[in-house]
Amino acid sequence: MKEIYLDNAATTPLDPEVLEVMLPWLKGGYGNASSVHTLGRQAKVRIEDVRDIFADFIGARSSEIYFTSGGTEADNFAVKGITFAKLGSGMLTSGARPHIISSAIEHSAIIDTLEYLKLRFAVDVTYLKSDRFGKIDPKDAEKAIRPETILITIMHSNNELGVINDTLPFARIAHNHNIPFFTDAVQSLGKVTLDVKQMECDAASFSGHKIYGPKGIGALFLKKDTLIDKFMHGGKQERDRRGGTENTAAIAGFGKAIELLKSRMKSDIEQYSKLRAQFVKAIGETFGSNVIFNSPGCGSGSGDVPYLPNIVSMSFNPESVKTDADTLLIKLDMKKIAVSSGSACTSGSVQPSHVLKAIGYDDRSARSSLRVSFGRGNTAADIDTLVETLKDIIS
Ligand SMILES: Cc1ncc(COP(=O)(O)O)c(C=O)c1O
Repeated sequence: MKEIYLDNAATTPLDPEVLEVMLPWLKGGYGNASSVHTLGRQAKVRIEDVRDIFADFIGARSSEIYFTSGGTEADNFAVKGITFAKLGSGMLTSGARPHIISSAIEHSAIIDTLEYLKLRFAVDVTYLKSDRFGKIDPKDAEKAIRPETILITIMHSNNELGVINDTLPFARIAHNHNIPFFTDAVQSLGKVTLDVKQMECDAASFSGHKIYGPKGIGALFLKKDTLIDKFMHGGKQERDRRGGTENTAAIAGFGKAIELLKSRMKSDIEQYSKLRAQFVKAIGETFGSNVIFNSPGCGSGSGDVPYLPNIVSMSFNPESVKTDADTLLIKLDMKKIAVSSGSACTSGSVQPSHVLKAIGYDDRSARSSLRVSFGRGNTAADIDTLVETLKDIIS
């Protein structure tokens, strides 16, 4: 039985070309990039080359790129770093509670960080609501601004629904009030053309393993002159903001993954879009009113809400389909088909997805939701097999 991997929003397989580029750095190229000898200098040169490649890819300057261990770290770096810098700057009138504006559909890397800041640093957080497809209204952000607002953070595209929120209006509103704007762009990289200058954001986070690169590598774009605290205390690496010996092999792999995107992104998007359209059509024809699509762009009245080409989230009607999503997931897994019942980072947790709850689902409906996410390795035959298998399991 062929393995069918349809959980590419959780992670993507490592591209063999990426692995090839990484291997020499794991074998012979073990020098510490801070060392002055040849081995060290070679590592340093590679790291700086990748910084240039990535900066160019997202329209940034090389000096605005900070390598991190992944998207979660980049999110923590930005949100905590900007908050702590403001707290430490004495810019807030004494007694005023610092305030952050975010959304209820952010990834847990943002929400958990914000909850920590609430608990330990008395930061007040406004979580903006979205519509039923995850679209957030910039006017709500404007209304939520207070004199003490120190940051607005809104994700660029959502990992469960695939909705894309154009972040430019949020950035402009933030800047009209002298507030920095940060966006988690982890899911958008490789599926949407991103230019941080045109997006006018002050910071944005990215991750390597969503783009056929290795795990354990990501990046933070931080616009020049953005006030931020050092994230990792230690050595002077990453412009003295993120101490720690650089992971040369992972950085080299990330660079190769970006180079592959340069030549492949257009065809990737075409491939994902075709698979997505095929899947949505087949699910609609097979299950009719027993399925509701949670993602925009599935013909369920989302209008012109933009969406990622590779993600479909759907819920089975719990009244007619008695099997919950976690049971479906296990049964599909027994047939060697991998999908997700929510965000990968919350899978395994008994809590229903906070994103589905935020778009209005009760616990029961949220628990009957599946996320299917397409990747380079998928074919039309995979989609046929998935739909047939779902039909068998459910009937
Ligand atoms: C939107 C979003 N942000 C952040 C992350 C965390 O990235 P990483 O797994 O690289 O830590 C993910 C991972 O699923 C994500 O989807």
